[in-house]
Amino acid sequence: MTRPGARDARYFRAKRDGYAARSVYKLEDIDRRYGLLQGSRRVLDLGCHPGSWLQYCAQKVGPGGRVLGVDLKPPTAGLPSWVDYLEADVLELTAAEVAEAMGGAQGAKGGRCLDALLSDLAPRTTGVVHADVAKSVELAARALELAEALLKPGGVLVAKVFQGAGVDQLIRRVKQAYKLGKAHKPAGSTKSSREIYLVGRGFKGGADKKS
Ligand SMILES: C[S@@+](CC[C@H](N)C(=O)[O-])C[C@H]1O[C@@H](n2cnc3c(N)ncnc32)[C@H](O)[C@@H]1O
Repeated sequence: MTRPGARDARYFRAKRDGYAARSVYKLEDIDRRYGLLQGSRRVLDLGCHPGSWLQYCAQKVGPGGRVLGVDLKPPTAGLPSWVDYLEADVLELTAAEVAEAMGGAQGAKGGRCLDALLSDLAPRTTGVVHADVAKSVELAARALELAEALLKPGGVLVAKVFQGAGVDQLIRRVKQAYKLGKAHKPAGSTKSSREIYLVGRGFKGGADKKS
């Protein structure tokens, strides 16, 4: 069993591939399996430090796209000009602030400016399982709220959450809001870790909303 944080094969692979963290391979696994980011141009990445998901998204969207990372700490990865960073607490961040940081809604109906919202948000763990799960559920719920406010119809969601009380409700919410809604444990996530990822493809809302 690999202890979380231990230097495993993925750690060394990420170093070799020039990624800031091995968590990139979890996103890669989810993206490959569900075909999420193909065609996405405008991506929000919540909990982006140190920046491996930003690096992956930057390659996916290319110079014509735009990626915004949000975290309490800035990315350390080297990133191209079409990636921006906003230092903020996601629990206090509003949809309007995201839309503005994305460069305005650019005429998107109702301010809907995102093709994809990704969240790898994770609380600083205390070892008290129910408290860590409750904080993780709070962060994931905020990611879902922002996705519901900002995704264009057809948009996609990936959001990490620790398994435990309150997660079934989040899974139900994703199943209702997206054509495909699932909970997924990606390759690269250690068996001992409580993390799973909520995956939504084909956002059903947003067509008529004004703000
Ligand atoms: C697992 S790391 C993300 C790794 C990142 N996906 C990557 O590939 O480099 C989780 C991040 O969530 C951030 N985070 C936790 N709570 C947050 C909050 N309330 N607001 C913003 N960021 C938060 C942490 O600072 C941490 O950098």
